[in-house]
Amino acid sequence: MISAIRGTRDILPGEVGRWQRIERVAHDLCARYGYAEVRTPVIEREELFAKGTGESTDIVQKEMYAFTDKGGERITLRPEATPSMVRAFVEHALEQDLPCAKLYSLGPMFRYERPQKGRYRQFHQLDVEVFGIADPAVDAEVIEMACALLSDLGIDAELVINSVGCDACRPRFSEALIAALGERVGELCGDCQRRATTNPLRIFDCKVPADQPIIDGLPHSDDFLCDACRDHFAGVKSQLDAYAIPYRVSHRLVRGLDYYTRTTFEMLGTGLGAQNALLGGGRYDHLVKRLGGPDRPGIGFAAGLERLVLALPEAVGEAEPADAFVVAFGEAAWPAARLLTRDLRRAGLATLIDYEGRSAKSQMKRANRSGVRHMLILGDDELASNQVTVKTMETGHQQSVSREALADHLRAAETGLNRV
Ligand code: HAM
Repeated sequence: MISAIRGTRDILPGEVGRWQRIERVAHDLCARYGYAEVRTPVIEREELFAKGTGESTDIVQKEMYAFTDKGGERITLRPEATPSMVRAFVEHALEQDLPCAKLYSLGPMFRYERPQKGRYRQFHQLDVEVFGIADPAVDAEVIEMACALLSDLGIDAELVINSVGCDACRPRFSEALIAALGERVGELCGDCQRRATTNPLRIFDCKVPADQPIIDGLPHSDDFLCDACRDHFAGVKSQLDAYAIPYRVSHRLVRGLDYYTRTTFEMLGTGLGAQNALLGGGRYDHLVKRLGGPDRPGIGFAAGLERLVLALPEAVGEAEPADAFVVAFGEAAWPAARLLTRDLRRAGLATLIDYEGRSAKSQMKRANRSGVRHMLILGDDELASNQVTVKTMETGHQQSVSREALADHLRAAETGLNRV
């Protein structure tokens, strides 16, 4: 047997209802908040992420599914959506149609990480991005939308925010970190020693227990923000307060991607174990220009759909029972049973039927097992009178209904039933 690749998963019928629920909520939410959907390829030039996500990130250094294609080009499966969204925005000059471009996308991403609960090598993101607005009102609106996504799904989460400053103030902070570390750099884990030379801020991402006492003693980013970044962060916080959104400020929320400036945020779920970030994002005011576009700010977030699926309340997305199971009583009833099934399906009713000319008894057994709402019996008497015998499974009640009135009858029986 050839099995699925480690870190990838089949989404099976029992679970797919939860995915569909999340996808429906996501499309609906994005439409209400003014976002247009784009679908970009899953393969891109490796360079897009080296430049976009950043050379110093774990994603680019260790986790990309990169290869040389038959034409000799360096290609990779995308590890995240943001650089692709920026590329599409620039390549198609989307700002000409949309001065404040708000775009979203849903799809698979690929990172060669160590698989565990909530962490996979192929996973899916809902990614939303806004281009062209620097005002903190957009940061607050994007965060408010992230909160709305989780509340529409019935998921509780904690919002954590931070500001990582800008190209003007971050170098001072990085220098202060290096100075504070001093000789102790050598005591940190190998990754942190590398980070100290490539991107000292990233040290705050470290989860190695032995490093924590040293990291706890390091300076905080908010003491190094320039006036413009401090004002911006104050603006974001006051607008979150105006929306009555609770948040915790954590100076350690530096995020694992190189492009962030100013606001960063994550929403953490409960009961998910170590991989508890349901979504994460932030502002990236230089990325569009760095990728060859005009000098435009940007902000967005991505939610991990696998983690949303894990965090959804239990009952969401359970399979709906079909409306009806058509049972043919006797040889002569089969053609009429098949036509009845077709007509009900075309009238919008989920309808099942057997195939292999089985006995009425075994059809009924199957109808029972399939959990349908109604069994529809067609035999010689029904054919002669153009009626169908309708058995309501829940009550056992049985009645004759004319063929013409049948679809309406079944629909009426359905109203009042709660659909998830
Ligand atoms: P990220 O924090 O790398 O940010 O990923 C966002 C979310 O994707 C995470 O919070 C998590 O829910 C999910 N995720 C990431 N890696 C995995 C994995 N291996 N398995 C399962 N889920 C995962 C970004 O990707 C940025 N592009 C977000 C962004 C958009 N920033 C600005 N705009």
